[in-house]
Amino acid sequence: MILTEKKIFILETNRTGYAFRATDGGVLQHLYYGCRLPRPEDYDSAPVILNQPGNALLDGDGVCREDLLQEAGTVGWGDLRAPLVDVTFPDGGRSCDFRFSHFERPEKAGPEGMPAAVGGETLKVVLKERTHDLYLELYYTVYEDTNVIGRWSRLINDGTETVWVNRLMSQQLDLPVGEYDLVTFRGAWAREMDMLRQKLSGELRWSSNAGVSSNRCNPFAMVCRRGSGEEHGDVWALNLLYSGDHLGTAQVNAYGSVRLTQGMGTLRWELLPGEKLDSPQAVMTFSAEGFNGVSCQMHPFVRRHIVRGYWQDRERPILVNSWEALYFKVSHRKVVSLARNAKNIGAELLVMDDGWFQGRSDDSHALGDWKADLKKLPDGLAALAREVNAQGVRFGLWVEPEMISQQSELFAAHPDWILGHRDQAIGRNQYVLDLTRPEVCQYICDSMTALLSSAEISYVKWDMNRILSDVFSPALPADRQGEVAHRYVLGLYRILDELTKAFPEVLFESCASGGNRFDLGMLCYMPQVWASDNTDAACRSHIQMGYSYGYPQSVLGCHVSDSPNHQTLRRSPLRSRFNVAALGLLGYEMDPGELSSDKIEEVREQVEFYKAHRRLLQFGQLHRCPAGDGECFTMVIAPDGSEAAGVHFVWENQPNPKSVPLYCRGLEGEKLYRITSRSTRPHIMDFGSLANYMSPIRIRSGSLVEKAADRLVKLPQDELELTASGTAFCHRGFYPIQPFGGTGFNGATRLMRDFDSRLYLWAEEKE
Ligand code: DGJ
Repeated sequence: MILTEKKIFILETNRTGYAFRATDGGVLQHLYYGCRLPRPEDYDSAPVILNQPGNALLDGDGVCREDLLQEAGTVGWGDLRAPLVDVTFPDGGRSCDFRFSHFERPEKAGPEGMPAAVGGETLKVVLKERTHDLYLELYYTVYEDTNVIGRWSRLINDGTETVWVNRLMSQQLDLPVGEYDLVTFRGAWAREMDMLRQKLSGELRWSSNAGVSSNRCNPFAMVCRRGSGEEHGDVWALNLLYSGDHLGTAQVNAYGSVRLTQGMGTLRWELLPGEKLDSPQAVMTFSAEGFNGVSCQMHPFVRRHIVRGYWQDRERPILVNSWEALYFKVSHRKVVSLARNAKNIGAELLVMDDGWFQGRSDDSHALGDWKADLKKLPDGLAALAREVNAQGVRFGLWVEPEMISQQSELFAAHPDWILGHRDQAIGRNQYVLDLTRPEVCQYICDSMTALLSSAEISYVKWDMNRILSDVFSPALPADRQGEVAHRYVLGLYRILDELTKAFPEVLFESCASGGNRFDLGMLCYMPQVWASDNTDAACRSHIQMGYSYGYPQSVLGCHVSDSPNHQTLRRSPLRSRFNVAALGLLGYEMDPGELSSDKIEEVREQVEFYKAHRRLLQFGQLHRCPAGDGECFTMVIAPDGSEAAGVHFVWENQPNPKSVPLYCRGLEGEKLYRITSRSTRPHIMDFGSLANYMSPIRIRSGSLVEKAADRLVKLPQDELELTASGTAFCHRGFYPIQPFGGTGFNGATRLMRDFDSRLYLWAEEKE
């Protein structure tokens, strides 16, 4: 709900309230963002500081802007903090004074050429620069049901001279004096979303200048009151619907109040008379219930207002991807065989990853030439897709359309289509195509349209494997090079808009060497993202946990891969690889046909289990539950609270372990639930020479005798089953079956190796 009275603006969601007013002089003063307050008058309490001691400055109305909480900070007029807007006027001056003009309630409003969240109720506040014909429009959208507020800004040059935009941020949030921490998510390739919590003092930033939203630092961030945690404390979260360079700043000023800003990264944009420039949309949420509270608001927001179209609410297929199975060695025969093996385990989609197009035997060739390699696929793509479909699974394809290999027909024809100079840092032997040029965007749209229409393709993995470094376009004049990074993203969005509209039922999965472009912007076009190239279960549980703060599991591609793992060479139990991947969109990054027959059986059971609980696993509300060091426990709960699933992952098994209860979250207190565990059969070989303690005959590790014994002797399987109320599960907890820890093994013990886990299910018991 949006209330507008006496120049006071109150934006309310189910649980939060946000308020600001225009001061008598017309400066927008921020009043409050936090829990929803009972009465509109409750929001109007902050004083306008008319005077500040010392050498602080006053504006013409006697207001000291240095410490005034504001909605739209600018350069000059005594405000020393990072501004929302920074422009250079024709005389070279940057001092800028925006004052309230009027407000409107537009039906629908989103930044031009960029994605916006769907739905919501919008308020547009128009400000005018006091001495120039420059207008600043602030757009606020309230997504009441999910407690999220969206913001973006538009600058309009209504004058007769050019101005240069140095900065146009999407959101600014000024918080009153307090003790806060900043939480950001940083990393690198295969190490995405590592949470970093820092005391907020001085100036901190979270940003990317890699041309993509990046695995170095995701745009999602939180600010919390010091001492807040998973389940308690005031937390404000910010995110951006943008896939390029971004910048977030957090500053504590000389008087102890805090300014947060977030928007596009480095920019220098020439704004001609009559032109406008839009920022991307940003979003924010507030929860008084800690980080879990934020996740419980951000997840439904992403599910309902970001992801859209045919796949928004549809269960996603279980896939087998060829990358870790074949790498570049794809061929018609191998892909059909992989499809057969995929069908055999119950998977529904076969994805042919990199290596399928003309001359692509490693990463040095052919990006840009989107034609099948007829040596590898002699019958062509359409015939291959037909044969894959005939195996009973759908066909998906990998592409990397924004890139160009130096060794390609496209490069030979258009060497000038690359971004940057020819002599530049090279990643994976490829250049980035210059998406600031309309003809390049058109080429990508045309070549992808031809490709996707040429065969029965149900899924596309859209990859992007290098960052932007020499951010220069020969197509633009020297004084407009500061626009290239943003124009690249605008070009990309134009392409994605056209293609996803042309192929609405194709399931697009975004990828950038895993999570190098994991953001809300991409999610507006593609409903899921390949979260990381790291498929190791132990690393993945950490990475997926990082994502879970701001993104629901329904957007995370998570695959079971071989052991030893290809990124870490770590061995981990198959059940554990599945349990971790099951808390996301399940796939297999291996050839199931290479597994032993008992492992194939185990995988078949996994797929069957996942299908039976797919809606819960993909779309249930995720909660991070309390867990000890070196462990994590995550639950997903059905919207009506009638069922839940949870995975308890342990990095290292300990001898003589302590008996520690696990505490659930998200279950409904009054409901009665029956918990069951999904265990798998323990194997004799898991025990090595210890098996001889029980065995009448000598068993050597790796011997045929061991294999035969394993087939004949079925060891007891741990099975937990008990019934209790939701309150009891959450507050008293439950005890997992005692793990094996050097003290004997029987049905009342649980075999837990390092990097092992258990998956539990809760089903409501009707009395
Ligand atoms: C990087 C992706 O993240 C991988 O999954 C795979 O698709 C390769 N690119 C292929 O080149």
